[in-house]
Amino acid sequence: MEKETANITLFTTLLQRHAQAVETRLDAALSPSIAGAQSFVPPRLLAAMRHGVFNGGKRLRPFLLLETAALFAGEKPESRQNYRHAALECAAALEAVHCYSLIHDDLPAMDNDDWRRGKPTVHKAYDDATAILAGNALFTLAFQLLTAPDNGLEPPIQAELSYQLALAAGAGGMIGGQMLDILAENQQKTAAEIITLEMMKTGALLRFSCLAGAILAQTTAENRLAMAKFGTAIGFAFQLADDILDISGSQAALGKTPGKDVAAGKATLIALYGEAKARALLAEKLAEAQNMLAPFGARADILRQAAHFIACRCS
Ligand code: IPE
Ligand code: IPE
Ligand code: MG
Ligand code: MG
Ligand code: MG
Repeated sequence: MEKETANITLFTTLLQRHAQAVETRLDAALSPSIAGAQSFVPPRLLAAMRHGVFNGGKRLRPFLLLETAALFAGEKPESRQNYRHAALECAAALEAVHCYSLIHDDLPAMDNDDWRRGKPTVHKAYDDATAILAGNALFTLAFQLLTAPDNGLEPPIQAELSYQLALAAGAGGMIGGQMLDILAENQQKTAAEIITLEMMKTGALLRFSCLAGAILAQTTAENRLAMAKFGTAIGFAFQLADDILDISGSQAALGKTPGKDVAAGKATLIALYGEAKARALLAEKLAEAQNMLAPFGARADILRQAAHFIACRCS
């Protein structure tokens, strides 16, 4: 019991520390110099981008990336020097994609939400056109950060990370999942169809968060596969928890309006199975995720805590 409490305290401390580091990096990136010396950023666009990024996000995806990279960083001591700097660049890029996805997810033509992270959504604080453009600009910022010549990443690693992020965020990943999510509103969907859409809209980016750390550390193919599978399991658990919170959480705790999924006729596993079965499935996914970490022993304890946090945030 004492060990459990100590682990949770370490996890919370590290989550905050990584969040601060990634926010500091994004704060610097989201300055007028983002455009480079040859151009300038319209202040309204930059302000809307900043509104969508700061503050209140859990920064869970950067945490997973940084801790997965740390798990394997010791394997190649010669690459350790640059690893922290490079991993942070990649973590900031990943959070920029996530923030873009939330700005667009909240748009009137998508989920039509007024609140996000305890603040008015970007289209409420600005307008729809500005929110669309702020999302687009955060998406391109991610690839700017990943491919910048001075970001500490070797060009082949830049290319691999950019390719994997494009796959995870694109038509066969997050964006495709968002399309399926919209198409499924008020439709009868099977469990397999719902799982596919949830794995795409949310699971793909969480899978990338864990895979990216393994790519950054240039670990073995076997370890990469284990991390991709771990990310897939927690990705599923994450969306299940999000759907449970939608029916059980409060506006104050969530920072977004609860009850929206039922109102919009969203196809979720809660709607299909009911809460008890959804919670049982969540426990199964947590066990699956923990199993993927078995080969790494105590070195992976912090990732175990992260999986626990993801699955238990709705209990
Ligand atoms: C919410 O993501 C959207 C989903 C993918 C379910 P998070 O719960 O990670 O949101 P923030 O970044 O902490 O606000
Ligand atoms: C969002 O899923 C998934 C993406 C943003 C890609 P939700 O629509 O369930 O997220 P919330 O509940 O609005 O945060
Ligand atoms: Mg949505
Ligand atoms: Mg939504
Ligand atoms: Mg939701």
